[in-house]
Amino acid sequence: MNLSTIQKRLFAWGMSRANHADTQNISLRGCANHNNFASLKQDLLSDLQGTVLEIGAGAGANFSKYNPSIHWIGIEPNIFMHNYLKEEAQRQGFNNIELHQGTAENLPLGDRTVDVVVSTHVLCSVSDPDRSLQEILRVLKPGGKLVFLEHIAAHSGTTTRLLQDSIAPIWKALFDRCHPNRETEKVLENAGFQTVQNAHFELDFPVVSPHIAGVAIKA
Ligand SMILES: C[S@@+](CC[C@H](N)C(=O)[O-])C[C@H]1O[C@@H](n2cnc3c(N)ncnc32)[C@H](O)[C@@H]1O
Repeated sequence: MNLSTIQKRLFAWGMSRANHADTQNISLRGCANHNNFASLKQDLLSDLQGTVLEIGAGAGANFSKYNPSIHWIGIEPNIFMHNYLKEEAQRQGFNNIELHQGTAENLPLGDRTVDVVVSTHVLCSVSDPDRSLQEILRVLKPGGKLVFLEHIAAHSGTTTRLLQDSIAPIWKALFDRCHPNRETEKVLENAGFQTVQNAHFELDFPVVSPHIAGVAIKA
């Protein structure tokens, strides 16, 4: 087993442990309507309907928030996540999920086939965020939406940004290519959605505290 395989296994195990974390205890700062992570996620995910594609679905942390009537399709490149994800899906009453090993840059779905795409803490890790968003736009039906929750680069010149920039190489190696200083908000604004609405807030995490969450609508 090589180092990358060991890292992927460990990351999958870590993400599965995080499924059991009490997200009500993760507080948010500067978020108008929510004071904890669980309540924000509930608000973003619980009313989704139809065919929902989740990119970078990890170990299935979001199943507890969805309505089980949705048709859930997941894309997850790390094969070691898959069993954890399937177990979590079953625990939360999802018996008919469609899970693919793949990447957001090459979605194995037809044009205009999906009502909603969900991305939670994924655009920081994809190899090519611009291409991933073009793929999301391709598979979304007209009027479909991308629901996102992402950590972002802090404003340049701030201590947090200096820390993000200097720690980035180690951070990427430790957390499976997660970029702590990615300007995801700009990438979303320039992707070609009809509208992008998002709220800024901070999570009580070191380095990756600045966050955005919101909805981008395809014309
Ligand atoms: C920090 S985890 C977040 C997992 C999950 N979305 C959550 O909120 O718990 C980032 C996930 O993105 C996945 N990922 C990395 N590169 C990707 C890519 N190019 N396309 C899709 N998913 C990717 C990783 O394997 C991992 O499962």
